[in-house]
Amino acid sequence: MNVQGGRGGASMVEAGANADTEDRGPGRNVITLDGPAASGKSSAARLVAGRLGIPFVSSGLLYRVAAYLVEEMHGDPNDEGVVVRILTERRVRLVPSVAGDRILVDGRDVTAALHTDAVDAVVSAVARHRRVREWVRNRLREIPGSFVIDGRDMGTAVFPDARHKFYLTASAEVRARRRVGERSADLASVADAIRRRDRLDAAQSVPAEDAVHVETGELTLEQVVDRVMEALSEVGAV
Ligand code: C5P
Repeated sequence: MNVQGGRGGASMVEAGANADTEDRGPGRNVITLDGPAASGKSSAARLVAGRLGIPFVSSGLLYRVAAYLVEEMHGDPNDEGVVVRILTERRVRLVPSVAGDRILVDGRDVTAALHTDAVDAVVSAVARHRRVREWVRNRLREIPGSFVIDGRDMGTAVFPDARHKFYLTASAEVRARRRVGERSADLASVADAIRRRDRLDAAQSVPAEDAVHVETGELTLEQVVDRVMEALSEVGAV
């Protein structure tokens, strides 16, 4: 099976469109890259998508925007009803594109505000709610065409029939060292925050049985991408 060429431009996905759960339809190839926080999956997924010329989607952005809006509205992230109400009152759009997906809220691009320590601190609480997970799953299944998507449960709950699934791992220490390079914080507190998120996200972070595991600890980002591309090539996907 060949990875079909992507849609060059961006497409809008928002509440209300028909769900399409046909992960293997003609002209469609969904490649999932799951793994824990700071495992490098977003960076790897972006580069794999770039090599294939198809969009990259970061499913965490939808959980992040939910957390961001709850914070903005001073809502309680542990109250499922509050979170769901905020999500239905606001017009949240995911705009996947080859250049990297964006999140719009009522037409405002909030993507740059979604990777902060404040969002990190509450996102797992928000992501625990069943109805929030359903909301995210439905948004993701509405995305047409081929794409590479990263997350925790893309290969299990959201796109169980995806042809190509990967699971990236690395120790909490390795992941913390990578994260420290991205944000101004000390190693010990970043490692603690990552371990905390690992605990809180454990329920939705079980690898798919048919996922190819890539231990990234000793690898550079380019080497991770090469591994994924090699695995795709071995099964004739590229
Ligand atoms: O991948 P990222 O770090 O951006 O994800 C942010 C948070 O969103 C995770 O810590 C997790 O709580 C939640 N998430 C999830 N399922 C996914 C993707 C993200 O629960 N598929």
